[in-house]
Amino acid sequence: MSPKVIIKSGLFRAAGYFKPGKSSAGELAPEHLAYLTRKNPALVDLKQRYERAPKPEHSAWTHWENSIELRRFRGENDYLSQAYFRQTGFRYSLTAAYTEIIDQWKLLDTLTEDDRFGVKTWEVLPGKVITRDLLDSILEIYFLQEALGLERNSNLRVLDIGAGYGRLAHRVTNAFPQAHVTCTDAVATSTFLSEFYLRYRNAADRTRVVPFDKLNELRPGNYDLAVNVHSWTECTRAFVAFWLDRVVDLGIKNLFVVPHFGDFATTERDSTMGTYEPELKRHGFKQVRHQPKCHLSKIVQTSCINPADYRFFQR
Ligand SMILES: C[S@@+](CC[C@H](N)C(=O)[O-])C[C@H]1O[C@@H](n2cnc3c(N)ncnc32)[C@H](O)[C@@H]1O
Repeated sequence: MSPKVIIKSGLFRAAGYFKPGKSSAGELAPEHLAYLTRKNPALVDLKQRYERAPKPEHSAWTHWENSIELRRFRGENDYLSQAYFRQTGFRYSLTAAYTEIIDQWKLLDTLTEDDRFGVKTWEVLPGKVITRDLLDSILEIYFLQEALGLERNSNLRVLDIGAGYGRLAHRVTNAFPQAHVTCTDAVATSTFLSEFYLRYRNAADRTRVVPFDKLNELRPGNYDLAVNVHSWTECTRAFVAFWLDRVVDLGIKNLFVVPHFGDFATTERDSTMGTYEPELKRHGFKQVRHQPKCHLSKIVQTSCINPADYRFFQR
């Protein structure tokens, strides 16, 4: 990886320590503390297997993954940046108010949140722990509800590519009791954490974590939807093409993508930006819905936490 990317990510991480917001590992049981270490044989094994597995040119994550603090994996890190130097409280209030207004299924009441694993918590709604994990997930779920015409009892089957610690899988399976989410990732630490986190949240029976070197276990016809949230922007174009090949092979017709920015930028090995837009076309995906995260208000969209565009494709 280029020195420019290493310096940029080092600065990003260092700046995170000075950002506002309350965060702690939370009260963890001794067995969880013991499990979440770099020496855990399950993680060591995954890392060795991922290094050996044939793959396209990898992302900056080969370097970043070693800096994830395992007991604070929901913290201000590469999975979810949560605070700003200015107006963070205002942004959370605005985003929480927007979420409350569109929350027809009352997910803010039913999806629970706590302070575990370093997540930053915000006291903007009395009696409710608010985090970016919770708000982003609810907004993504309502986008999917409209895009796919979902009901609470929909039997949705999702393949989450670049699933991180399993944030969306946890939330989707709580919002849709009949749903099933398969998580996969090209980074061993992410696979290790999602496997742990989904068990921790009692979601293991309606989720599955498939390691990168076992992708051949995925079966065509088993998925309604593939998702990629805040991941492909950090990948090379060759790696995005690799995943789109898998999505096509698995016969998945619907694709939900949330890029970091409005477009389809990739991050190449020499730290230049590329684009995966031609790959979407080449794989037969047409964009059928494109809307800002807080699309009902330009004011909220401008000042919400991590403004993003939601994009939905079909083939
Ligand atoms: C910013 S995190 C987002 C995680 C998750 N999608 C979420 O929204 O909470 C980026 C994710 O992309 C994954 N990733 C990095 N390089 C990848 C690659 N080449 N293929 C698939 N996933 C990758 C990382 O392991 C990480 O889980």
